[in-house]
Amino acid sequence: MVLLPLLSNSSLPTCLKNLARVTLTRDFVRNQYIHNLPPTILTKIIGNNKGKAFRKDATSGSGVQRIVNFVSPCLREDLLCKASEPVRDCCHKVTIVGAGMVGVALANSLLFQRITSHIAMVDVFPKKLEGEGMDYSHSSVFIGDPKIEYDTDFCVTSNSKVVAICAGVKPVKGETRLDLVKRNTEILKTIIPPLVNYSPNAVFLIISNPVDILTWVTWKISGLPVHQVIGSGTHLDSARFRYLIADRLGIAPSSVQAYIIGEHGDSMVPLWSGVNVAGVQFRDIIPNIGLETDDERWYEIAKHVVKLGAMVRCLKGYSNTAIGLSAADIIIAVLRNTQAIIPVSTLVQGHHEVCHDMFLSLPCAIGENGITQIIRMHMTEFEKKAFQGSANAVYNAQKDIKVG
Ligand SMILES: NC(=O)c1ccc[n+]([C@@H]2O[C@H](COP(=O)([O-])OP(=O)(O)OC[C@H]3O[C@@H](n4cnc5c(N)ncnc54)[C@H](O)[C@@H]3O)[C@@H](O)[C@H]2O)c1
Repeated sequence: MVLLPLLSNSSLPTCLKNLARVTLTRDFVRNQYIHNLPPTILTKIIGNNKGKAFRKDATSGSGVQRIVNFVSPCLREDLLCKASEPVRDCCHKVTIVGAGMVGVALANSLLFQRITSHIAMVDVFPKKLEGEGMDYSHSSVFIGDPKIEYDTDFCVTSNSKVVAICAGVKPVKGETRLDLVKRNTEILKTIIPPLVNYSPNAVFLIISNPVDILTWVTWKISGLPVHQVIGSGTHLDSARFRYLIADRLGIAPSSVQAYIIGEHGDSMVPLWSGVNVAGVQFRDIIPNIGLETDDERWYEIAKHVVKLGAMVRCLKGYSNTAIGLSAADIIIAVLRNTQAIIPVSTLVQGHHEVCHDMFLSLPCAIGENGITQIIRMHMTEFEKKAFQGSANAVYNAQKDIKVG
């Protein structure tokens, strides 16, 4: 075996090189073919395949993958002349924890828009994870040959630039919000320490709900600097707000400047005082816009935004496309160090008279290290009170959570 690398470079005639190589590698190939393939998650479920030939019917997809992965050492050496070790983890690596509806939508957004070429996916449900991972692998040629790793083991997440948390349990019937927070907090307690261990410099983006509380929990458990832990917050709500305003005006949603801040939830705060199109403030046209005294009833739009997430879930069973794209938008800001201003969940203690140690959304500049600036919003007294009301509502659900 030690002679093999030498053979490829020696000045022996090709026919002699090939004869020597075939003799040297025949036994090696026979042994390697079956025994030295990397174990997949499926191996853990269906048992060890050692000694069995991998055929298509061995298991649904796994056999196919193994056959495709197998490269005869002879062909490999004839074809490839190694120049250097490939870099294992590229500088745009994104880990997604939770291969459910949201995790997959986020992976789709990142891969289809070519935002990253390296994704690691982790889930506790191995069969689903391997199915998703294989599906992505089979998409490779259409999406720029990304590197997709997937495992139940956190080791695949090492050296990530961004770690997105989409893992969580859904509320069961009759469960209180506090019970759901407690269950998801328990999940975070098991997943955050190993993730930080493998990627201590990563920006952590929390998407699981209730996102403001879980982002605070992640920050506490992780021990990371606060700017490195971000909640997807009201970026999606703001996008819905902009869409509904634009729809009423018949213009493009991206041309409407409008923010929702506070909780990603019932107490979210629409900032009507800042809504504008091309710099024209709506408030200059309708001074009481957003208030119930407004004859044009624009305030109904904000009330509608609060219900949209539940409405989508009710209609299709889950909500994933828009959150996947909005989370990907935050990840772009990190990977490309853009300093884009995005409303995300961050530590708001000391902002707008909030005294609690808690996370809520405010427009922030986001770059490679996470949050670099928090915008000092100029709000009306009405909006400021609504923001403090949002803080109280979230803190009431958070105050009984033990993270120590
Ligand atoms: N922030 C937002 O705007 C927004 C929008 C939609 C959904 N969400 C939230 O995103 C989360 C995921 O939603 P979904 O629809 O994808 O749910 P889902 O049930 O489809 O997926 C959740 C996944 O998490 C996995 N999981 C559970 N425990 C885990 C653990 N310890 N380690 C690794 N993986 C684990 C499950 O196996 C599952 O695959 C939920 O909390 C949901 O409320 C947030």
